[in-house]
Amino acid sequence: MDTHLCVKTEPNESAPDGAGPVPKPVPALPGVELERCEDGTAVFFCRDAGATEALGRLLGTLSESGDIFCLVGDLGAGKTLLTKGLASALGVEEGDVVSPSFSLMNIYEGKLEVRHFDLYRLDSPDELADIGFYEYAGGDGVTVIEWADLFTSELPPDYLQVSITIEKDGRRVELLPSGPRYEELIKEVLRSADSRTGYSH
Ligand SMILES: Nc1ncnc2c1ncn2[C@@H]1O[C@H](COP(=O)(O)OP(=O)(O)OP(=O)(O)O)[C@@H](O)[C@H]1O
Ligand SMILES: [Mg+2]
Repeated sequence: MDTHLCVKTEPNESAPDGAGPVPKPVPALPGVELERCEDGTAVFFCRDAGATEALGRLLGTLSESGDIFCLVGDLGAGKTLLTKGLASALGVEEGDVVSPSFSLMNIYEGKLEVRHFDLYRLDSPDELADIGFYEYAGGDGVTVIEWADLFTSELPPDYLQVSITIEKDGRRVELLPSGPRYEELIKEVLRSADSRTGYSH
């Protein structure tokens, strides 16, 4: 697989010949394979940790202010690692991205603010209110929620669900849209993955 980085351009910069916006630069996706895409969802297989992080980087590259990513998966599935990739694409230092298992929410400053929640240790919606979940989720910046499935009734209506399953030889990562913004985002992810893998659908 081609692992070279694309030339970096500013988002929405016009082509010199006025041919319209230049697509966002697509990060390399080493170890990422598109398994299938159907009914608006996309399923990838990540062969190693670097692949999970790279897929996160792609999501971060394509994300916009207001986006919400709901991460679902067992302990150690790769939710925090994928968040590292996502946040690094938004200019956050990778080392700054740490698990919010105990802090419950971390905020990182990048090109967009990234709010990183972990709901694993919370028991009730009251506690969500205490940590500012309702003010922060979906506000300006990008919101990432680990263990979002523990509070499905408290989530905003529209979000991208990222479900990570542990397999013996890697991780299966499924993208499921809730709302038109995320249907479009998955199409962008697929277009970008095509350009990196040669996969056609
Ligand atoms: N595709 C992959 N193949 C093999 N190992 C992987 C892959 N992706 C991630 N890992 C490994 O899985 C672990 C993921 O840890 P991480 O802290 O990101 O999980 P998590 O889902 O956030 O867990 P928690 O629920 O405890 O917060 C790391 O050890 C990482 O190296
Ligand atoms: Mg985690």
